[in-house]
Order: sequence, then C-alpha cells, then structure tokens
Amino acid sequence: MKKALVCGAGGFIGGHLVERLKSEGYWVRGVDLKENEYRKTSADDFVIGDLTNPVVVAMVLDQSFDEVYQLAADMGGAGYIFTGDNDANVMHNSATINLNVANQAVKVGVKKLFYSSSACMYPAYNQEDPNNPKCSEESAYPAAPDSEYGWEKLFSERLYLAYNRNYGLNVRVARFHNIFGPYGTYTGGKEKAPAAMCRKIAEVEQGGTIEVWGDGKQTRSFLYIDECLEAVRRLMESDFMGPVNIGSEEMVSINQLAQMVIGIAGKDVSIKNIDGPTGVRGRNSDNKLIREKLNWAPSEPLIEGLTRTYSWISQKVKKPEAVSAVS
Ligand code: NAD
Ligand code: GDD
Repeated sequence: MKKALVCGAGGFIGGHLVERLKSEGYWVRGVDLKENEYRKTSADDFVIGDLTNPVVVAMVLDQSFDEVYQLAADMGGAGYIFTGDNDANVMHNSATINLNVANQAVKVGVKKLFYSSSACMYPAYNQEDPNNPKCSEESAYPAAPDSEYGWEKLFSERLYLAYNRNYGLNVRVARFHNIFGPYGTYTGGKEKAPAAMCRKIAEVEQGGTIEVWGDGKQTRSFLYIDECLEAVRRLMESDFMGPVNIGSEEMVSINQLAQMVIGIAGKDVSIKNIDGPTGVRGRNSDNKLIREKLNWAPSEPLIEGLTRTYSWISQKVKKPEAVSAVS
C-alpha cells in the first residue's frame, strides 16, 4: 500500500486530496494547523501541528513516504493577498514551511514531492490587458509578481527545484489557477471570487443588489477541484517535473462570473461594482504545456462546477453550523 503525507490537509484542496488518495487505496497522513471546518477527514492519521516548527515537520515527515503533497500555505483570495496587510506573515509562514519540508524530505528520503505554486507568480506586466493575458510557463521571467504571495511562490518553486538539482529530491511543481468547489472557504475574508459570488447571491433577497469589487471587467479563469486533482495525480504519475499550469482556459470577467451565479440561483439580483482589492486586470491559464506533457485538459465547462458549488454554499448559508459527512 502506498503511503502519502498531505501537508495542509485541513484546507480546501488538501481536504479533497485526502479523499481522492483514500479512494485510490493509499494510506494517508494529513497535517494542518486545524481540521477542515466543513467535514471530517478520512485520513488514516491526522496531526494538528504547525509546519513552521521544524520539530513538528520532523515528527510528521518521519519516514520515506512514497508521496508528499505540500499544500500548506498562508493564503487567501484578493481580500487577503492584495490588501498588503498580511504580506509579512504570508512570506514568513509559507517560506518557513517550504524550507522545513524540503530539508526534511531529503533527510528521510521521500520518493516524490508535489509542490503547489500559483498563477500569482506570473509577471504583472503580462496581465494588464483583461482580454489578452499571458501566463505561459516560460513567460515567468523577468519576474514581477504583483503580490508578496506570488514572490514567495516563485521563491519556493526555485527552492524545490534547487533541492532536486543538489540533493536529487524528486519534485513535481504545479501552478494552480484559481481552484474552486464545495468544502472551500466561502466567508471570513480569505474566500476567492467564485465562493464570494455564491455566498453573496445566496444571501441576498429577490430584487436585491450584490457588491462586486472593481469595475467587474477584470478577467480570470476558474478550475473545479475534481479537475485540479485529476491533473495533480497525472503529474505525480508522470516523469514531467514542471513547473506546469493547472487551470482552465475558460476566461470570464468577474461580472460575467456573478451573472452566471445569478442565473444558477434563478434570482433577480443586480450587480453594484465598488472599490476593492482587484489584483491583475486579466489572468487565464495557458494549457499548451500540460496538454503536450500529460495529455490533460479540463473536461467540463465552468457552469457545471459553479452549479455544484452554489448548491453547497447556499445550503451552508441556510444552515451554517452543520458539519457535513464526507461525500
Ligand atoms: P487553504 O487555505 O484552504 O489550505 C491551506 C492550508 O494550509 C490551511 O488549512 C492552513 O491551515 C494550512 N496551513 C497554513 N499554515 C500552516 C502551518 N504553519 N502549518 C500547518 N498547516 C498550515 O488553501 P487551498 O485553496 O487548499 O490551497 C492549497 C495550496 O494551493 C496552497 O499552497 C495555495 O497557495 C495553493 N494555491 C491554491 C489556489 C486556489 O485557487 N485554491 C491557487 C493557487 C495556489
Ligand atoms: N475574493 C473576492 N471577493 N474577489 C472579488 C469579489 C469578492 O467579493 N468581488 C470581486 N472580486 C474580484 C477581485 O477583486 C479579483 O479581481 C477577482 O475577483 C478574483 O479574485 P480572487 O478569486 O479572490 O483572487 P485572484 O484570482 O486574484 O487570485 C486567486 O487565485 C490565485 C491563483 O490563480 C487567489 O486565491 C490566489 O491566492 C491564488 O494563488
């Protein structure tokens, strides 16, 4: 039986990944500062611990795991990473986790390690035109991310690649483009646009108005969690190290995203665009490399994952205290 360690297993993607690995027959240890807020984990072993502490890292990463998935990070949506208020913590916490994990992974002889980087590491100068952003892997340099969160991701990508070159650590690096779905943060300030739109529209009365940050013409693409995990698993099974984009190429404006959710909800709701943290003007995944290397592309349109996410968030809005069973 293969053994995997999921760092950040109490979070959104880590929580889903534990379920996926269990369904594939793995023995799984999860580690996080907290349990997932919305459901119980099916990890065989779940450790509450702080990965900025090297003693904790040595305790959970105590053997030559077949696979380590390093997803733990101090992260959030535009309301968390673009205000500037969390910059020092984001850089310190996430970089320290990655420094500890890379070092310990070599000590115990981990067989393969996955690192989740972000589209936020791409240069701001290529994302100024909302209709024509450039996020191909080779466009990463000269580096100019628009957030400290993006700089830390770039540093940690390079850290893992250096451990590969100098110590033979077998790494896989992916750059996620805005992943969404059920069991993700939808309130509290760290939520990303899909969850925020679902919550706002679930909460508003018929005939009401929701607030959307910026002029609503900024663009993004969003990838449903199951598609993301399929790509992650394929990357881990392949010989390709990356870095590679894992995202969707279905680019929409944020007002279009809001309109899609309004349509799903079947509500009469108006949009009011207000000042807020907006980040880059345009971003879209470029999937040329992943198609070539892994023969993978997302299989469903945005509206389908969005419909499932709205259904989950609207239930949570009605009954916020309920902890759902694992689905
Ligand atoms: P998340 O915030 O839900 O999960 C991250 C988890 O890391 C959280 O549960 C958090 O408690 C944990 N963590 C933070 N500091 C820790 C510490 N010191 N010790 C132990 N655990 C700690 O985020 P997510 O959406 O699941 O993202 C997972 C990874 O993917 C992150 O590295 C994130 O930067 C990256 N990523 C996500 C997206 C996205 O759209 N969700 C996009 C790009 C990159
Ligand atoms: N979060 C949020 N909440 N965003 C809103 C809202 C709102 O109520 N209204 C409008 N937006 C706009 C933001 O201003 C931004 O322009 C756009 O929606 C997308 O915001 P997010 O989904 O929060 O973040 P992002 O796409 O800029 O960055 C996210 O994706 C990266 C990877 O692609 C973040 O989650 C990063 O952490 C992640 O790495």
